[in-house]
Amino acid sequence: MGFSKDFAWGAATSAYQIEGAASLDGKGLHIWDVYTGEKGHIYEGHTGEVACDHYHRYKEDVAMMKEMGLKAYRFSIDWSRVLPEGRGKVNEAGIAFYSNLIDELLAQGVEPYITLYHWELPYEIYKRGGWMNPKIVEWFGDYAKLVAERFSDRVKYFFTLNEPQCFVGLGFLTGEHAPGIQAPVRDIFEMSHNVLKAHGQAVQMLRQYAKQPLIIGYAPTSSVCYPQTEKPEDIEAARQMFFAMPEDEKNWTWNVSWWSDPILFGEYPEEGMKRYEKYLPTITQEDMKLISQPIDVYGQNIYNGKCVRMGDDGKPEIVKRHEGFPRTAMDWPVTPQCLYWGPKFLYERYQKPIYITENGLSCHDTLSLDGQVHDPNRIDFLARYLKELKRAAGEIDLRGYFQWSLMDNFEWARGYSERFGLIYVDYATQKRIWKDSAYWYRALIQTNGEEL
Ligand code: FCB
Repeated sequence: MGFSKDFAWGAATSAYQIEGAASLDGKGLHIWDVYTGEKGHIYEGHTGEVACDHYHRYKEDVAMMKEMGLKAYRFSIDWSRVLPEGRGKVNEAGIAFYSNLIDELLAQGVEPYITLYHWELPYEIYKRGGWMNPKIVEWFGDYAKLVAERFSDRVKYFFTLNEPQCFVGLGFLTGEHAPGIQAPVRDIFEMSHNVLKAHGQAVQMLRQYAKQPLIIGYAPTSSVCYPQTEKPEDIEAARQMFFAMPEDEKNWTWNVSWWSDPILFGEYPEEGMKRYEKYLPTITQEDMKLISQPIDVYGQNIYNGKCVRMGDDGKPEIVKRHEGFPRTAMDWPVTPQCLYWGPKFLYERYQKPIYITENGLSCHDTLSLDGQVHDPNRIDFLARYLKELKRAAGEIDLRGYFQWSLMDNFEWARGYSERFGLIYVDYATQKRIWKDSAYWYRALIQTNGEEL
């Protein structure tokens, strides 16, 4: 029991967080370029203008992946780099960049996994209403078609959207992320319906224009609910809360079922339909058919969870964390159980092979006097989390795990203040330095997680 022989041990990144070259070689503007360019949004005014300069250093970065023994690499395509206006004219220099990256990965024996949308909404599309404009379904589909035409001869694995909970919720409801809007709740439901339709359209276009049979998935997120004990009632309480719809309107995007039931079941969850009835747009059968295009695998980004038990009143309740509960540098709780219960509950409900498309933590990593980066907290965190994942691997169809992240990078509103990488980036020189955890991960991959 444990991880399958062909388990995809990987690492993940996203375009804006690492590429840099934000205004080079014909790339168009996207909402993060614009948002980071205005004062007050990002920690100390940081931007992704240079980031890890991966655009110029991708060969060195792929060489590190190979040296680390990574089987798989999940990266995203910046929509505005290949279609500067989001639609219409193709930027061949942008295509060439991703094409070269793919060739390099394959040459080094690392399987590429492409994410179509990790939050770079082209500014021209945004100006036309972005996710609020129903036409985005067609535009996103055309972008997916281009990606299929140019890259699916060599790339087999695709994820459509990264974390709609985040890019819709933080971008348009609370306004903490680009484009920094606080729209009415009603608009957010309409937008989300377009987001899900765009996902469906992209699945259709990827398949239609694919040069080989593809494995297509989706990469949403959410905090996981895990049971306090393994008594059946606590497990049931955790399951119920994990798939429940939040009561807080201003936080409604943080849930699993609204974003995944439509894709896997062709229906929105009844609880949400009732609770949010007054906000819902017109939803047709045709829409639901598009949204529920069959996908092959289910990805989920999992970072932490809440401990849940069945209350005396027969309703699930959250168990309060004890004083001094372990937390990462970003202040996220350390809850390894989420990597057992998360994939298990998701597999039970959706019956698709599972990928953990992101998991990891930020630490206060520094370059020590000995010239190395010692990150015992990361090693301990990963060992605890992966032990739980191994238990899940013995029970469900689990295909892969992507560590967030390959290297330190631009952490959205937090700029470069958070270090999530296995590899340390010295931003002043762009030097990459392996953290202790990178060596640890390499050894783990070599034994397929046996020692966990
Ligand atoms: C996820 C994002 C990813 C990264 C990690 C820390 O929400 O998908 O880009 O920022 O968190």
